Amino acid sequence: MTHFLDIHTTPQDDLRHIIDNAISMKKSRAGRPKGALDEEQPLKDHMVALIFEKPSTRTRVSFDVGVRQMGGQTMVLSGADMQLGHGETIADTARVLSRYVDLIMIRTFEEQTLLEMAEYASVPVINGLTNASHPCQIMADVMTFEEHSGPIKGRKVVWSGDGNNVFASFAHAAKQFDFDLTFTGPPPLDPHPDLQGLYSIERNPDLAVQGADLVVTDTWVSMHDPQSARERRHNQLRGYQVNEALMAKAKEDALFMHCLPAHREDEATSAVMDGPHSVIFDEAENRLHAQKAIMRYCLGR
Ligand code: CP
Ligand code: NVA
Repeated sequence: MTHFLDIHTTPQDDLRHIIDNAISMKKSRAGRPKGALDEEQPLKDHMVALIFEKPSTRTRVSFDVGVRQMGGQTMVLSGADMQLGHGETIADTARVLSRYVDLIMIRTFEEQTLLEMAEYASVPVINGLTNASHPCQIMADVMTFEEHSGPIKGRKVVWSGDGNNVFASFAHAAKQFDFDLTFTGPPPLDPHPDLQGLYSIERNPDLAVQGADLVVTDTWVSMHDPQSARERRHNQLRGYQVNEALMAKAKEDALFMHCLPAHREDEATSAVMDGPHSVIFDEAENRLHAQKAIMRYCLGR
């Protein structure tokens, strides 16, 4: 059973294969209408369940479109509307769904929910974001970097802001794809201790971005964070906003990424998001291509 649960638990060669496959699948359908079937249909006759316990725009639409382009069918399920949200165990849900569908993608809160789903499902399970990680996003980000700037190996990536779930997947990717990752942010919002050793810390954002090939940020308040933390986080993170002055200190051809959704003028200014360094919409598009390659990988096709 090949699940796609996290970047650090997926073999390096497989990650490389997924990125290369995503780039070639993207090229092969360039210019065609979004609803047109791919020439090859590796998901023909396949049914895919997309479960969301949190909101989503990109993950939901890109998985749905991706499955259809590859000839499969989808059902989008809201966690709250399933028995899962009313006390049925994850193990039983996994066993039942496995009798109906060929692949499960789940966006949930606790990492444990994802792991339990994978343990008890007899079909592949894909992580569509948990409180702890967001591997599909970072596969799209690596793909986007390489399309614009060449191999990511040995390059410098700087994360400015909250050491959150998206950062965690960048940290896993730094080891697997062999790039250099610097975290700049306030100590109370440091990344999870398990990630130590995968990145370096520079508290001063101006110094952190020196020599950066890529500057990344994300929302200051994630979906799993209490809304009551909003004001405190804004005060802690204000100095880590990605603005034109900060981007000017990175390499001249540095890229800017944000997984979206963004709070413009908080974690990043519109001048940067819509400016010459920004590749945020390529990044969003590449969710589609990267996840198609991930689904093929999981199904061995
Ligand atoms: N980047 C991302 O996962 O976006 P959604 O929350 O819209 O899916
Ligand atoms: N860190 C954000 C990413 C959203 C795609 C969150 O978890 O809400």
